[in-house]
Amino acid sequence: MTARGKSIRTMLFAIAMLAVIVLLVVLSLKARSEPAIPCDIDHLDLIDGVDECMRCHGETGIIPLSEQHPINQKRCLGCHKYEGSEQ
Ligand code: HEC
Ligand code: HEC
Repeated sequence: MTARGKSIRTMLFAIAMLAVIVLLVVLSLKARSEPAIPCDIDHLDLIDGVDECMRCHGETGIIPLSEQHPINQKRCLGCHKYEGSEQ
């Protein structure tokens, strides 16, 4: 390969990397922050069992998740922290 061909490839690679970085920044700025879990009687003493959460937040629960809720609905505590706890 010629030196010229190599530098064009290097440049294309740099441009592609830049595009990826810009995309990630835009996505992270758009991300909505998740509400804290209230420290009330409904939520204290729950272990991170999705079933347990979905008893109330599932489709037939008293506070179902909204349509905008992220699709990943496992490991609730991976995203939601208890009110007042360190992030
Ligand atoms: C016994 C029913 C019940 C269970 C079980 C339950 N929740 Fe809730 N959850 C509620 C109710 C009712 C509210 C809204 C009012 C409040 O408590 O402040 C709520 C509110 C929330 C909110 C805040 C929503 C907002 O808009 O601020 C989050 C986050 C949440 N729950 C997460 C969880 C997670 C995670 C679990 C499982 C570890 C869970 N809940 C289990 C009844 C429940
Ligand atoms: C990938 C991260 C993530 C996971 C995992 C997750 N949530 Fe959420 N949750 C969010 C975000 C972000 C919002 C705010 C959504 C919005 O702005 O509409 C939210 C909002 C909520 C709300 C407020 C009502 C609503 O739907 O907007 C409740 C209640 C809730 N989540 C409960 C849960 C429960 C229960 C689980 C586990 C089954 C869970 N979440 C798993 C990120 C997550």
